[in-house]
Amino acid sequence: MESISALQKERYKYLPKLPKVINTDLNKIKLELGKPTESLADKEALAAMFKNNYGKPVALFAAGTNKDFDKKLNVGVILSGGQAPGGHNVIAGLFDGLKKGNPESKLFGFLGGPSGIVENKAIEITKDIIDVYRNTGGFDIIGSGRTKLETTEQFDKAIEVCKTRSIKAVVIIGGDDSNTNAALLAEYFEETKCGIQVIGVPKTIDGDLKNEHIETSFGFDTATKTYSELIGNICRDSNSAKKYWHFIKLMGRAASHIGLECALQTQPNITIISEEIEALKKTTNQIVDDIVKTIIARADNGENFGIALIPEGLIEFIPEIKTLISELNNILAKHAAFFDTLKSFEDRAEWINRNLSKDSSYAFSSLPANIQKQLLMDRDPHGNVQVSRIDTEQLLLELVEEKLKQLKTEGRFKGKFSSQHHFFGYEGRCAFPSNFDSDYCYSLGYTAFLLILSGLTGYMSSIKNLSKPSAEWLAGGVPLTMMMNMEERHGKQKPVIKKALVELDGKPFKTFVKYRDKWAVKTCFLYPGAIQYYGSDSICNQPTKTLMLEHS
Ligand code: FBP
Repeated sequence: MESISALQKERYKYLPKLPKVINTDLNKIKLELGKPTESLADKEALAAMFKNNYGKPVALFAAGTNKDFDKKLNVGVILSGGQAPGGHNVIAGLFDGLKKGNPESKLFGFLGGPSGIVENKAIEITKDIIDVYRNTGGFDIIGSGRTKLETTEQFDKAIEVCKTRSIKAVVIIGGDDSNTNAALLAEYFEETKCGIQVIGVPKTIDGDLKNEHIETSFGFDTATKTYSELIGNICRDSNSAKKYWHFIKLMGRAASHIGLECALQTQPNITIISEEIEALKKTTNQIVDDIVKTIIARADNGENFGIALIPEGLIEFIPEIKTLISELNNILAKHAAFFDTLKSFEDRAEWINRNLSKDSSYAFSSLPANIQKQLLMDRDPHGNVQVSRIDTEQLLLELVEEKLKQLKTEGRFKGKFSSQHHFFGYEGRCAFPSNFDSDYCYSLGYTAFLLILSGLTGYMSSIKNLSKPSAEWLAGGVPLTMMMNMEERHGKQKPVIKKALVELDGKPFKTFVKYRDKWAVKTCFLYPGAIQYYGSDSICNQPTKTLMLEHS
């Protein structure tokens, strides 16, 4: 038997493309710095917190000359948070850059996420190691974790650990929360003058780490293509058997970018966009009524089947549940020790109910017990409800079934309703990165190395112009403080990188709105099929529809 798949073997040989401007001798690249920048909001508070890093200029690499790009350097890298396709290529780009600069430079991979730098668990990444991870999915080269780095003790420990390995820079590959950690670490390192730089890399399949300088986070391309393949397959099954409604929950902890992209790729009958639900202040009942209307309209055409996409973050965008969750977060943060002494679910639910406001207590009580239990589960280390563990698709399905039963008895629904439910999340996070993600990630890693060589800290590696061929991409860095604002976490105001939600006046959403009524009633499914790695550009090298629409 083979020890690796044929595709894996083939992918080792793929040479990721770099932007032309940095795909040259290192001494032919120069750094250009723009004007001072500001944070997205809460300028005074953030300027006071990030005295050393606030207001730094945007950095861009251009053709030119420099003298100092062959330094011998030791760098540490951390993979943080949920897996996203392409992480290995970020490390490969960083490794290749370091070795090109000086073959004696070393790259250390901290094991198991941010905790690795505090616990001094690391391996040196060598050519033999990196070569068997090139262009592969997963974070298994060094593992990942969700430990939040925020205390002075953790930062001091990190400095000590870096010093023992002569590490001059740390690259943190993560989402908004992990890059918030990166900003805090960079500030502490500057304050203590320890001489260690910190560079972030934008990772998350959720696609919610973006702004004018970060056009997309890596992994979104591959994950949405993987989910779209699966959804397309289910669309075809549904259109063949014509007997099931499939309710599909899709990952994306807060924003609905994944659902929106998959809708544009597959044209399902129903796609809920959480941001719209919040803007229209829709209640759970109204959401159920909307779904039921489409089911009835299709049944009237003799089509007792269909596809509904539900973003996993929806529950936090339904106003009454959003308020409930915010109250729960505060209560659980304040009374964590007492809450832990309550062992049975009944005792916990009763105590919680007594501490909630009247409206939230009503909202909590009207949810089925399994959802109540899921809402009371531990928050992640960043204070987020673990929405991937809440069965929102099943909740909606139960409520829809109930409503249809009632309408049937009243003679207002004459069709049939049978259902299946699915959750697509983990299936897409470790797929072989698409050519786009392979190239993008390699470029992000290589650019992180250039930012380090340029002596910058508190920056995120940035590759722009992504809707164009990779040769035309632009490479540079964006100050982390520029993406920040203050938000409430664990009941306290904290500096955080702002999540980019679906913009309701943006082109991707508007395009979806233009077609969704047609897709709801008529069967217009698209079957995108599996990601293609070899073949014509039209099937191998297309970025997401979201990216193309946003930058067309
Ligand atoms: P990141 O924000 O760390 O990239 O993770 C995103 C995500 O994949 C969400 O879509 C999902 O809700 C969550 O991770 C699941 O977390 P876990 O892997 O801890 O179950």
